[in-house]
Amino acid sequence: MRDANPGTIYLKDYQAPNYLINRTELHFVLGEEETLVTSRLHLLRNTENGDSSELILDGQDLELVEIYLDGDVLDPSCYEVGEATLLLRDLPEQCLLSCVTRIRPQLNTSLEGLYRSQTMFCTQCEAEGFRKITYYLDRPDVMSVFTVTIDADADRYPVLLSNGNLEETSLLANGLTRVLWHDPFPKPSYLFALVAGDLEHIEDSFTTCSGREVALRIYVEEKDIDKCDHAMDSLKRSMRWDEEVFGREYDLDIFNVVAVDDFNMGAMENKSLNIFNTSCVLCDPNTTTDVGYQRVEAIVAHEYFHNWSGNRVTCRDWFQLSLKEGFTVFRDAEFSSDMGSRTVKRVEDVTLLRSAQFAEDAGPMAHPVRPESYIEINNFYTLTVYEKGAEVVRMIHTLLGPQAFRAGSDLYFARHDGQAVTCEDFVLAMEEASGADLGQFRNWYSQAGTPRLTVTDAWNKEAGSYALTISQSCPATPGQDDKKPFVIPVAMGLLGDAGNLRLQLQGEAPDPDTEDNTHMVLMVDKPEQTFVFEGLPEKPVPSLLRGFSAPVRLEFDYSRNDLCRLMSGDDDGFVRWDSAQSLGVSVITEVQAQLLAGDEAQVDPLFLEACGALLQDDALDPAMLAEMLSLPSENYLAELAGEGAADVQGIYRARTAVLAAVGSHCREALEQRYAQLAVEAKYAATGEQIAARSLRAVCLNYLAAAGASGLALANAQFAAADNITERLAALRVLSQFGSRSDWEAPMAKFYDDWGHETLAVNQWLAVQASMPDDGAIARVRHLMEHPDFDLRNPNKVRSLVGTFAGQNPLNFHREDGSGYRLLRQVVAELNSINPQIASRLLAPLTKWRYYQGRAEQMRSELELLASMDGLSADVFEVVSKSLK
Ligand code: PHE
Ligand code: ZN
Repeated sequence: MRDANPGTIYLKDYQAPNYLINRTELHFVLGEEETLVTSRLHLLRNTENGDSSELILDGQDLELVEIYLDGDVLDPSCYEVGEATLLLRDLPEQCLLSCVTRIRPQLNTSLEGLYRSQTMFCTQCEAEGFRKITYYLDRPDVMSVFTVTIDADADRYPVLLSNGNLEETSLLANGLTRVLWHDPFPKPSYLFALVAGDLEHIEDSFTTCSGREVALRIYVEEKDIDKCDHAMDSLKRSMRWDEEVFGREYDLDIFNVVAVDDFNMGAMENKSLNIFNTSCVLCDPNTTTDVGYQRVEAIVAHEYFHNWSGNRVTCRDWFQLSLKEGFTVFRDAEFSSDMGSRTVKRVEDVTLLRSAQFAEDAGPMAHPVRPESYIEINNFYTLTVYEKGAEVVRMIHTLLGPQAFRAGSDLYFARHDGQAVTCEDFVLAMEEASGADLGQFRNWYSQAGTPRLTVTDAWNKEAGSYALTISQSCPATPGQDDKKPFVIPVAMGLLGDAGNLRLQLQGEAPDPDTEDNTHMVLMVDKPEQTFVFEGLPEKPVPSLLRGFSAPVRLEFDYSRNDLCRLMSGDDDGFVRWDSAQSLGVSVITEVQAQLLAGDEAQVDPLFLEACGALLQDDALDPAMLAEMLSLPSENYLAELAGEGAADVQGIYRARTAVLAAVGSHCREALEQRYAQLAVEAKYAATGEQIAARSLRAVCLNYLAAAGASGLALANAQFAAADNITERLAALRVLSQFGSRSDWEAPMAKFYDDWGHETLAVNQWLAVQASMPDDGAIARVRHLMEHPDFDLRNPNKVRSLVGTFAGQNPLNFHREDGSGYRLLRQVVAELNSINPQIASRLLAPLTKWRYYQGRAEQMRSELELLASMDGLSADVFEVVSKSLK
């Protein structure tokens, strides 16, 4: 909490630390009221960085009890305790500094540092939580070997864990149990972890490629012990995959995972002791949806992959966050693609990127993949750093090709093992291993904003040549008015009547490889460029940005006929899906205009026919079909409308009208598919079953939008389901399209049956938070009083309030401003409980410039927040930047 405005930290001010901490010994005495932490820091002056004998350690909410230098009580004239610092003067070049600090984990609601979750103690130190445990150089470029002893009551806390290997266990005279953990790998403080609790575990083992055996354990509360198998299988698959695809072997004899209920994010890659939000590790057919199973697999992999991309090689400073996160998201996406359908995975990722990351990049918090400044680093765990960062790595992969990319990755890990490095070091390794010049490519790291590609074409019938002219631009973002051109790989092909055409660029030698000459990557690196293709028998339809080869907005004036041709005939699955989306956008936008003019909705028959044809296409993977038949989301449509132009009600009405029209037009086909796809077998999270259920859910949604027969099917589905995926799909449909009498009983029954399962209750909250009816706000307020709701638990807050603000456009943007008010009140309350969550929850209000007729109301809620006393740095940064 700050009184004055918190300051800004700049990348350009980076300085190496003036002391190093070679070894760190920590001793915890865990108590029911307070915890005593004794640190022994083996300090060594970093002579590379001058000769100062002054050292400033970070520390927050700590009570300093004792302090010693080389065994002697330190004279008070030699140190000064500040608000968030401990200043030490006249330190020798090498010394042992020891501090005893008192902390109160039981009162720590920020969920950073050491805190309580249910009956256990756990830690979360990234990014700057370690300073809430003891005074330290809490920065990632200070890497230290940690030895940790924990004293605790073994009845309450039979399981006592930290990083590395368990070296000793003993019973103390005072009745407490003592354990000693040692981690041989030097690490920054943000990777430290400690867990103490009454936990059960499952155990398995993995033999690495060089034949070492690793014990794998997943720790959970006893009630959840049957929900760990999927995570364990995912872990083993990840370990094998990282050996095979990236040549990365695990490096310790144990790998532990712990599930905790109260967690700010998804999971954390602490060295050999990953801590997971229960929602990202536990799986059970009655608490976890199909999407949830896939998410668990991806997150387990993500955290595991960090062992190399993040832990063995870490970040020099937090501006380099994407070094570990962008790379690791790329790695986990590749893993998921290999485990399931590559195209479907790509479609899911692009959907998120375009509906949410593009909005972030166009809003007041826009920042480059490598930001240049921040007030609160917690605000920079963003879609830009993670998802766009992964796209940047993916483009390097595209530019270099798989072999050179792997060589670059190998060089990066070999050269920087044990170091804290920068994004520049990563790019340099990629350049050196491949011989490529990524000079201009680096603009992706330094410039914010989503580039826009405008493409026009010209067909010369006599010459049989076809020209594509591509121009690029990038809108201004905060602090960056003018942008330099990016290097944009545009993967493409040309579609003719009978399929994809052979590509021959003017002035280039014909490709001798006749196998794959229908696919090409154009390098766009100037403000405007023209590419001429020769020897074409007919005017083609361009298939552009295949596989979404760059995170850009691409504009080309396709006719609806062209889109239909790409949808059914292109070789690239992503372009087929994207063409269906574009067609959907164009049809919904047209209907929106009709309704606005007071006319009846007239859905283009071409679109209805295209949907009908898709439903008949038995060759298509049902998971892909489900994606192709899913209309663009309201959030994506609002994003496309642009500043000042998003009409939430208009979008909702138009989208619903199109759903209903498809539902009526294709009723028979939808009903048929729905019936055919019923899964008879017992629930299993297999690709085949998941695909069937997802297409079924899409069919059900159309049918329910079109009327009562769909609602009846939903009711029957709810009653018959043996899993939460189908139960929720039914509830969602009933509560989106039905009236109270349709959803009331099943909604109550769901709680009666599954009210004892926290993760199921969270989804029950989320379904209700997204209901479009007029009672929504009162319902959300009422549910906030429900005994199962808890403002201190981030999962609950996200499920109820986060879903309301992010996934219930109609009610969040109510004309009377009651949706905005609700969000502001919750944020205000959370500001002092958990600033990190408060600030994240706020995101929908920061998009105030988008919404037609709502900007003033949204802005004024932000102003109310800005004027609050005791505003956290987290909320202050988002509010003040949004109001600029
Ligand atoms: N580093 C974690 C991850 O990606 C995310 C995280 C950040 C978790 C901060 C907790 C706190 O994988
Ligand atoms: Zn990560």
